Amino acid sequence: MQNYKKDFPIFKNNPSLIFLDSTSSTQKPEYVIEWICDYLSQSYSNIHRGLYDIAINSEKMYFDSKQKVADFLGTHDLKEIIYTYNSNYALNIISQTLRLNKVLKTGDKVLVSIVEHHSNIVPWLILKEEIGIELEFVRVTQDFDIDFDDFEKKYDEKVKVIAFTHVSNVTGKIFDVERIGKLKRPDTLFIIDASQSFPHMKLDVPKMNCDFLFFTAHKVMADSWLGVIWGKRELLEKYKPIFSGWWAINEVKKECFKPGALPFKFEPGTPNISGALSLLKALEYIEKIGWYETVESIEKELIEYSLEQFRSRPYLQLIGNTESKKRVWVFWFYIQGVHALDIADAMAENNICIRAGHHCTEPFMNYLKLSSSARMSLYIYNSKDDIDAFFKILDTNFNPTWLTK
Ligand code: ALA
Repeated sequence: MQNYKKDFPIFKNNPSLIFLDSTSSTQKPEYVIEWICDYLSQSYSNIHRGLYDIAINSEKMYFDSKQKVADFLGTHDLKEIIYTYNSNYALNIISQTLRLNKVLKTGDKVLVSIVEHHSNIVPWLILKEEIGIELEFVRVTQDFDIDFDDFEKKYDEKVKVIAFTHVSNVTGKIFDVERIGKLKRPDTLFIIDASQSFPHMKLDVPKMNCDFLFFTAHKVMADSWLGVIWGKRELLEKYKPIFSGWWAINEVKKECFKPGALPFKFEPGTPNISGALSLLKALEYIEKIGWYETVESIEKELIEYSLEQFRSRPYLQLIGNTESKKRVWVFWFYIQGVHALDIADAMAENNICIRAGHHCTEPFMNYLKLSSSARMSLYIYNSKDDIDAFFKILDTNFNPTWLTK
């Protein structure tokens, strides 16, 4: 089976490293690292200001980055692409913009799913505290899909915003966001957290019928501190931005200023230029290896293989979708009587990286009455050997049958 480990210098420099925590952040390919290194060594400059060659060239590539993102999303309009710092920032900017522009007012309701990451819960709790909105959680079914009966029951006339993740960062389940897009009324905004779907699959934003979508570059092989918001142009043009600063503004007098034009209206100050260019290069890398078709074919094989391994070990409780359909390669599990931190510790001792804890999904953990869980997640540089090494540590340290022998 093909994998792309050889393209990632971290594995050449740490030959024994087994990285199974890509849902948290992905490793970076040589193509991105070398390009950014060359850019910073040879032609770095600020953008929007200089008339010299390296400034003009940096600005052009910054635009190319946005165009590439817009093309990947199937929206093609770079003026709808706003760069910020990460997904948490993205949703804070969106929620506060909705507040400032009085799209959300006291008594309005925001509907989210119970599996949401804290980043799609806390910004709404802040608005609950600040202006008295309501936040309601839609349940999931036995197989961790959206419970659409519950959704329709809770989607009453008070709901002004629906904000759902596309893929859960714990169960790996792919939600049918297109179905939500079809159910959405014209008086409701639909926001999609694509942090866990953008790295895995081709997104068709027009088909989703959403108003905002966001993701973070570090989970798709680019650098950290770069979040991406896609917003419908008519809304971005209409809304006042919550922050101001050069390029978010156009003209400043002692008494007043004029807001800037899209896409910079929401990007005050010098942006993360090398981060934006790293995203351009990461997306070019995905194109070079054969697009999402390649990612999906490696993913399909490794999901099947991992699920087989989980199923054959009754001492492991996999939480989430035990079928390979409608899921990505993140595996959330626990072992009765074992603290997840002990599992992560045993892995770390063997240079295997996984995540343990609440995974920024405390309301979901409470809903499932889970106190401790571990998570193993994969990407295109992983192989069956990595998965075997992971299960070997589990069997050696935690398989009760083995332990009593
Ligand atoms: N959101 C990232 C995760 O799920 C950090 O691990």
